[in-house]
Amino acid sequence: MEQTFIMIKPDGVQRGLVGEIIGRFEKKGFTLKGLKLITVDRPFAEKHYADLSAKPFFNGLVEYIISGPVVAMVWEGKNVVTTGRKIIGATNPAESAPGTIRGDYAIDIGRNVIHGSDAVESARKEIALWFPEGIAEWKSSLH
Ligand code: CMP
Repeated sequence: MEQTFIMIKPDGVQRGLVGEIIGRFEKKGFTLKGLKLITVDRPFAEKHYADLSAKPFFNGLVEYIISGPVVAMVWEGKNVVTTGRKIIGATNPAESAPGTIRGDYAIDIGRNVIHGSDAVESARKEIALWFPEGIAEWKSSLH
């Protein structure tokens, strides 16, 4: 079954949006497979965003991600990568539709509350980076 990596960024945690965001994924029907509150260091954040290292906003992005705890999650379900991105909304909150997480809770691209993997392959890499210890086993009778 498809999985994606979702991270509630420091602004989302500090603004008390964790429960709201988890609720949206749960109510859609996705299954929570991994969850932790973690403050990452600079080398780790630089690794997560390595593809963006040439961008002018890279240093600011890394500073933002290491500024406080984030909630790292693995969600599972049919088309969860694409549908998860729809739930999150466009990267720039100026373009994200009302009803999406960024559309409802963000106004600044540099403080956009949440990250979601953009493809199945990047989800696989991000889950391996953030959850080297592995993720939860669900008993099939309860799943
Ligand atoms: P995210 O989905 O985590 O993927 C990359 C992040 O880079 C993105 O969300 C934004 O937080 C950030 N980002 C993208 N474009 C810009 C920009 N022009 N200025 C500042 N941050 C940006």
